[in-house]
Amino acid sequence: MLNIVLFGPPGAGKGTQSKLLIEKYGLIHLSTGDILRGEIANGTELGLKAKSIMDRGNLVPDEVVIGMIESILGKNTQAKGFIFDGFPRTSAQALALDNLLEKLGTSINAMLSLDVKSEELVDRLLERGKESGRADDQNRDIISNRINEYNNKTAPLKDYYLAQEKLILIEGVGTIAEINDKLCRAIDQI
Ligand code: AP5
Ligand code: MG
Repeated sequence: MLNIVLFGPPGAGKGTQSKLLIEKYGLIHLSTGDILRGEIANGTELGLKAKSIMDRGNLVPDEVVIGMIESILGKNTQAKGFIFDGFPRTSAQALALDNLLEKLGTSINAMLSLDVKSEELVDRLLERGKESGRADDQNRDIISNRINEYNNKTAPLKDYYLAQEKLILIEGVGTIAEINDKLCRAIDQI
């Protein structure tokens, strides 16, 4: 299996690049944000609970997202691999992911971390917010809160994967094709 954590702050391009990578490498895209927005759209109990947290730009509780990932991994044991987008976001999630993958006899091959400055992230998200309908893209305060949550709780995971010699830093500014090229070159070297 080829298992990649595609990492980076809100608006770094994780979703955009995941779509290109799953096509090229035949992987499954696992975006906890997309799954949660699906739950909200379907009006499920989980969606109702998650909505107010997500709309403010805070993180949903670990046990909720870990449960979602566990269920999807369990249903796709024959997959060629996964791109994890927006997961893990806390150290509890990173530990849980390692444990879940170990049970399947596999592991994370690399964390590809997209680096983009905050000003560019805010511009991208406000621009997307004009059409995305995402409540968390609509104003600067919520976007700043998402970036703060990332800096405080999520960015430290780079050290977790660095300690496992799996961290690869990628400059996330440039055209979508240029960034895709850099990601593919990194993956081809794994
Ligand atoms: P999630 O859906 O994961 O959102 P996010 O991390 O805030 O990131 P985005 O999806 O906004 O950005 P992205 O990096 O995917 O960039 P994209 O490709 O879209 O999470 C949402 C919420 O769900 C969280 O706040 C939390 O509440 C909850 N949640 C999710 N996972 C969780 C977890 N594991 N634990 C707890 N809570 C969780 O690109 C952004 C924009 O930029 C697009 O318009 C795109 O077209 C544009 N763009 C992309 N690349 C470029 C480029 N190279 N140049 C210019 N523009 C570009
Ligand atoms: Mg995304």
